[in-house]
Amino acid sequence: MTKTPDEGWAALEDAAVAAMERAYAPYSGYQVGAAARVDDGRVVSGCNVENAAYGVTLCAECGLVSQLHLTGGGRLTHFVCVNSDRSVIMPCGRCRQLLWENGGAELVVRTPQGDLTMAEVLPQAFGPDDLAAVVDR
Ligand code: THU
Repeated sequence: MTKTPDEGWAALEDAAVAAMERAYAPYSGYQVGAAARVDDGRVVSGCNVENAAYGVTLCAECGLVSQLHLTGGGRLTHFVCVNSDRSVIMPCGRCRQLLWENGGAELVVRTPQGDLTMAEVLPQAFGPDDLAAVVDR
């Protein structure tokens, strides 16, 4: 991050809270906001969007990844998500896979247990390298 690490994280947490305030979560009542720094310095964010067909629900990370690509792509370097208490929460398992695809092993995730790499929060991840390993044969 270009700012000091603390300023960088504070800006990301503010963006995550702002996103959380836009969440559409009438069924669970659990609002989530996610924000991430991209390797070119910009910040992308997303909120959860639920659906009357519950399984169609989009986690906050889905919107964030869409915004990443919509605004020019790049790699995620730092990530955080929060609930309506403004508490840092863990991304769900599916969303860890989304984050892995767009940030890889080095992406730093702010968690309730401190700042961890994706390699720590999704050990032995399946990813693009696994596909390439077969295609290259
Ligand atoms: N949720 C997210 O947006 N991201 C996560 O990583 C965990 C769960 C949302 C989905 C659903 O709208 C609500 O939280 C309750 O599960």
